[in-house]
Amino acid sequence: MSTPSLLILPGDGIGPEVMAEVRKVIDWFKANRGLELDVSEDIVGGAAYDVHGTPITEETMAKAHEVDAVLLGAVGGPKYDDLDFSVKPERALLRLRKELDLFANLRPAQCFEALTQFSSLKPEVVAGLDIMIVRELTSGVYFGEPRGIITENNERVGINTQRYTESEIERVARASFELARKRNKKLCSMEKANVMESGVLWREVVQKIGDTEYPDVELSHMYADAGAMQLVRWPKQFDVIVTDNLFGDLLSDVAAMLTGSLGMLPSASLGAPRANGRPSAMYEPVHGSAPDIAGQGKANPIACILSFAMALRYSYDRGEDAKRLEDAIEKVLADGLRTGDLLGPKGGTPIGTAEMGDAIVAALASAQ
Ligand code: IPM
Ligand code: MG
Repeated sequence: MSTPSLLILPGDGIGPEVMAEVRKVIDWFKANRGLELDVSEDIVGGAAYDVHGTPITEETMAKAHEVDAVLLGAVGGPKYDDLDFSVKPERALLRLRKELDLFANLRPAQCFEALTQFSSLKPEVVAGLDIMIVRELTSGVYFGEPRGIITENNERVGINTQRYTESEIERVARASFELARKRNKKLCSMEKANVMESGVLWREVVQKIGDTEYPDVELSHMYADAGAMQLVRWPKQFDVIVTDNLFGDLLSDVAAMLTGSLGMLPSASLGAPRANGRPSAMYEPVHGSAPDIAGQGKANPIACILSFAMALRYSYDRGEDAKRLEDAIEKVLADGLRTGDLLGPKGGTPIGTAEMGDAIVAALASAQ
């Protein structure tokens, strides 16, 4: 089988800085754990728009199709806010998701013990929290037609369409049941079946998949607004949550904040297995490009490094190495090392982006 491959797309803002730390981690695994990885790099988002007038070129798209996984930093920035939708940096993200058919977006929300005090919720509510949101990523209102701004009766009308086919619901439901089976065998599906037909169908299809294929997984349903409330009230009642594209966008931000820092959360977007058995995949931190701190060496690289850990687990079949990396991060945090976003009331040792990367590599080495 050919060498596993990775396409790195650092993107904009803090993307390149945090990606430089991932490179250190990759080099460590290559040198010490026999990782074979064919790594290439390209520009995307505003960086690509500046050079090519488009946020992602056809060549980059072709490369993304070829590799086993894409690791993306972040895209966007104030400089590009007024651009037309068709060339905005975010367009690159949406195109990668859609064309690689990355329908299952895994967004874990995990509360690291050393950081319990960072949550805006009481420590007992978040301590030990470890939940997974699966967001449908290639359909729903993000992509539904018709869409646009039209003129009707002398005024403009903005239109987007929520639309889900049975097969789209089935495949994301299966991905979620599979995950739940490997975790605590509990899945909660969220929609608005009380007001939306797409929600009625969603609920029916998820229930059918559960009854016929996953009777061992405990399935529940919740309206998404109630789900948002329950996430903040007592998040530990959940294990895996599955929901549509837009609700998933919102609920995953809520879940992220439960853990205290957006700078800590990774994500994986997975498609169907390909001929070589590996799913099409893209990994990215949940945080954005943080233009306010870009270029200052302050950004927290942990979310991007944890995204690479997810790549080790889901694309390269190296779950043990993924755990090794997660443990190293846990240790560095327990040692009190903190980038600016993690400096709270209890202090800690303030460090920058590069020092955090170095500390994680040192922790990997000392655990050898
Ligand atoms: C996310 C982001 C994106 C989304 C934006 C940047 C297009 O908010 O990944 O959650 O809305 O999906
Ligand atoms: Mg979002």
